[in-house]
This record gives sequence, structure tokens and C-alpha cells, in this order.
Amino acid sequence: MAPRKIIIDTDPGQDDAFAILLALGSPSELEVVGLTAVAGNVPLSRTARNAQMVLELAGRGDIPVYPGCERPMVRPLFTAEYVHGDSGLDGCELLEPSRPLADRHAVDFIIDTVMAAEPGEITLCPLGPLTNIAMAMVKCPAIVPRIREVVLMGGGFFEGGNTTPAAEFNIFVDPHAAHVVFTSGVKLTMVPIDCTYKAVMTPAWLKRLRAVGTHTAIQAAGMAEFYQEYGNQKFGTDEYPLHDPCVIGYLLRPDLFKGRECHVAIEITSPTTMGMTVVDWWNVTKKPTNCLVLRELDNPPFYELLLERLSRLP
Ligand code: RIB
Ligand code: CA
Repeated sequence: MAPRKIIIDTDPGQDDAFAILLALGSPSELEVVGLTAVAGNVPLSRTARNAQMVLELAGRGDIPVYPGCERPMVRPLFTAEYVHGDSGLDGCELLEPSRPLADRHAVDFIIDTVMAAEPGEITLCPLGPLTNIAMAMVKCPAIVPRIREVVLMGGGFFEGGNTTPAAEFNIFVDPHAAHVVFTSGVKLTMVPIDCTYKAVMTPAWLKRLRAVGTHTAIQAAGMAEFYQEYGNQKFGTDEYPLHDPCVIGYLLRPDLFKGRECHVAIEITSPTTMGMTVVDWWNVTKKPTNCLVLRELDNPPFYELLLERLSRLP
């Protein structure tokens, strides 16, 4: 069977890097047709550069990176250097990109790619704020029925939020973009922190990753060790979740995940709960469902998959 064509929309971000590397380590299942960068964890100039550097780390500098939106649709940009470091990829030493960014805007690349492909051929994998995805849907609504699926990391309900008590970072940064995507009618799967908090990375696993000994594995281990520091401080534990690779893990091994079709609404008015993903898990509103909400993850096989696929990279 031909590999599934995906566009990864990303704001690297150490955990974004693991998602990108997992996809690149799975060429028989996934074809990464391009990366689109969005402002999120750090400003766009850095997320775009980081995306290029991660691709080149894995020997895939041939995959183009398209720079996207520099700020959310309505709200000012809120970034997370407090988690990822000033570069957005602290903890590793990567070479400067050897090629320029692609000379098309990410929004236009998404539109052009989806419109040129067969209906149902392209899957979008947003790992950051949904600004690029929403702007593409607003600029060209015809892409919505042609998109095979949007599988996004974002949101939270039973776990509350990780950025405010009510909101997860990706949705909090651009709640209006999330509202556009969640009301678009696109086939949507949401991987919220309710699920990704079960994707905790252990020190033992990290040691196994570093022991792989390849350049990619050593640099990835450095990223994870830096990233885990934040978790140690916030949760007082040495096990911290890698959120974004769960999106790619779901594409590769959906059997490792469990969830339910729900109606999900995005809070875009209350200053207290701005960016909250209101998941109607018990269907009390009787509203039509708009999203598969993943809540469970079988952690050990997921991390074995992640290690095995990263071990394939140079
Ligand atoms: O809340 C976690 C999400 O926000 C992840 O995608 C992380 O990379 C940041 O973008
Ligand atoms: Ca991210």
C-alpha cells in the first residue's frame, strides 16, 4: 500500500522534533510532502529554522519547509521559551540550515497541495497553534472536504489545561483558529493532553535512546533531556510526556489509542477559560459530533515504536 501523504504543521519545539523524526523513520507508512512552520513555542523565524534543522539532522533536507503565519488570527502571540529554551530546540547542537526556506507561504502550500491532490489524499498533522490550518480553510474553503483528516495535538478536558487552568498551549495561543478548524466540518482527530500525559518518557528509555549512538539519536536525547527539565520542575517527576509524537504514533498504530467521537467547542470569549476545548464526552448537549477525542494510550509499545523508528535515522 502506498505511504499516507502528510503535511506536518509545526512549531519546533523538542517534542515537535520527535514527531517529525518518527514520521521520517517510517517511510513505508508515511510520506512527508512538506513541513509548514507556525509561530508558537517560539517566534516563526525560529520555528521555521528549527524545522529545517531537524529535517537535515535526519538527512532529509530535501523536504521543503514553508514559513507560515507569524502571529495568531486575533490574539497577540504567546510563546513558550520557558519550556523549550530561547532557540525552541535547546539541548542539541544542530547545523545551520543548508538551504533556504521554500518561497511559498505555508497557507498557500497547504491549499495548493490539497487542491492538486485527489480528494482524501492529504492528511494534515498540526503540532502547534492552528493558525496556518485555519487561514487555509478561510482563504480556500474548498480544501475542507478534500482533506483526508486533520490529526492534531492540542486541547485538554479531563486534565484541564497546561498553559492556563482551562487551556492547553496550542489552542490557547490561537483559540480563534481552533474555532475555525473545529467548526469547519473537516474529519478531525484530537490528541489532547488527556492522552499525551500518558506518553511519559522515562529516564531508562532516554538512556536507551542515547545508547543507539547515531547522530540523530544523540541529538534527540539532548533535546529530550533539556525538555524534561521543565517537567521535573513543574511536576516534580523525572518522567515527562512527549506530546507531539502521539499524533504520528496514532497514524502508525491507531490500535495503541482509544477515544470517542464527541462534540468539541472552543472557548473564544471568556478571559478566564479562553482556549478551553469543551469536550462533550457524555453527549449531554446532543450536538452532532465533530471530532474523535483520544484519551487512552498504551505507553510501552508506543515508546518501543518511537525508539525503533528513530534508530533507523542516521
Ligand atoms: O501543549 C503541548 C503542545 O504545545 C505541544 O505541541 C508543544 O510543542 C507546544 O506546541
Ligand atoms: Ca508543538
